[in-house]
Amino acid sequence: MEYFTLNNGVRIPVTGSGTNTFAKTPDRVYTGDLKDHLSAIKAGYRFFDTAEGYGNEEALGNAVKESGIPRSEFFICTKMRTREQGHLGRKEAEAAIARSLAKLQTDVIDLYLIHHYWGSDEEMIEVWKTFEEYCRKGVLRSIGVSNFTPENLQVLMSHAEIMPAVNQVKMAPGNWNHETAAFCREHGMIPMAWGPLKTDEEAAAKVQMIGDAYGKTWAQVLLRYHYQAGNISIPKSHSYEHQVQNLDIFDFELTPEECTAIEAL
Ligand SMILES: NC(=O)c1ccc[n+]([C@@H]2O[C@H](COP(=O)([O-])OP(=O)(O)OC[C@H]3O[C@@H](n4cnc5c(N)ncnc54)[C@H](OP(=O)(O)O)[C@@H]3O)[C@@H](O)[C@H]2O)c1
Repeated sequence: MEYFTLNNGVRIPVTGSGTNTFAKTPDRVYTGDLKDHLSAIKAGYRFFDTAEGYGNEEALGNAVKESGIPRSEFFICTKMRTREQGHLGRKEAEAAIARSLAKLQTDVIDLYLIHHYWGSDEEMIEVWKTFEEYCRKGVLRSIGVSNFTPENLQVLMSHAEIMPAVNQVKMAPGNWNHETAAFCREHGMIPMAWGPLKTDEEAAAKVQMIGDAYGKTWAQVLLRYHYQAGNISIPKSHSYEHQVQNLDIFDFELTPEECTAIEAL
């Protein structure tokens, strides 16, 4: 696995497994079934992205235990639920961190994110100050945000003592968020691509034409693109074959022209 270094020196695998539909039925009822987590671990994933809002942090904690692999070999990212929660401040952030630690059965979270901006700068700053405190205590190894616009980030940065390490945003053909990603890079945050494989058939077919020259699938080309662009990616798959494929992206290199063509999709 290759690693990027976050703005606080913490090393993060360049790609991890998304989990938003893991341990659930197709209509998203939580089952606790560890099949998808365990197959991702078997495929080689050690970095998992979850969130309190996915309702499946406990399954990730159970899968890490069940794998028999030391917790220290995993990189766990989770998120504080922030939409439709009423007032959010220090008390709520502390409670959310405590709940995630308990469900994940860990005493440290590698990367903890604000899941969405929820409309209150004042509350957001109070929540961030709490994140900073837990980061200084070592409970959160690194902290960041998700779905933040450059405007949200400007406000946060003007009050932050610890800058966000990442901004997790949708990044795939048809919805690249190029401007937000560029803003993040300029300010030392790594863009983290959610939904990196969520694209339409037409774009996938164009990417596949690039992949054909390397014997790679369109999914592998998109994930390789993210790596070369300096973006963390968190693809999610319920298929072991796809999980293995999505990690097999380190033996070819896209040309600058191919990257430009992908960025234009
Ligand atoms: N911060 C946020 O607000 C936010 C929002 C959404 C998601 N996320 C995070 O981002 C993760 C990824 O996003 P996502 O799950 O929405 O979308 P995604 O990972 O881009 O796409 C998932 C889809 O791609 C398919 N797929 C995976 N690998 C493939 C391959 N090699 N070839 C062909 N198809 C493949 C999967 O089907 P199979 O299962 O059949 O492989 C699934 O249908 C989530 O799991 C979650 O952790 C964050």
